[in-house]
Amino acid sequence: MKLKDLIDLAFKAKKNAYAPYSGFSVGAVLLGENSRTFTGCNVENSSYGLSMCAERIALFKAVSEGCRDFELLILVSDSDEFCLPCGACRQVLWEFSNDLRIVMSNKKKEVKETWVEELLPEAFSLNKKAKGGQ
Ligand code: THU
Repeated sequence: MKLKDLIDLAFKAKKNAYAPYSGFSVGAVLLGENSRTFTGCNVENSSYGLSMCAERIALFKAVSEGCRDFELLILVSDSDEFCLPCGACRQVLWEFSNDLRIVMSNKKKEVKETWVEELLPEAFSLNKKAKGGQ
């Protein structure tokens, strides 16, 4: 899938966002090994702290379906600004892909790129058994 198609897929995933409290809808696509794609959107809760970000939903879907290696995250919103992954998501993404490319797109469909190690330098890590099959 081309980058543009992945961005379109993330905007499509955003339509499923459940964000009545913040009014801020987010869509995500994770591109994993063997070109597998996993979508996510944010899902909020009236007990605010139970809300979940779009990219963590995409990642948990992927891991629960046996995919643990990712090369690209697409993150989109309807904001004029680019939606950067929150701190919690940076740590969770880093757990599985230290060299993850992150492409963001905004309301105007402008595009900005970064890398997870740019967003989370010197990340916390234990011995990485996560990928090995444990
Ligand atoms: N949100 C995400 O889905 N991903 C991010 O990286 C930033 C924030 C969601 C969480 C919440 O539902 C809404 O955006 C406002 O914070």
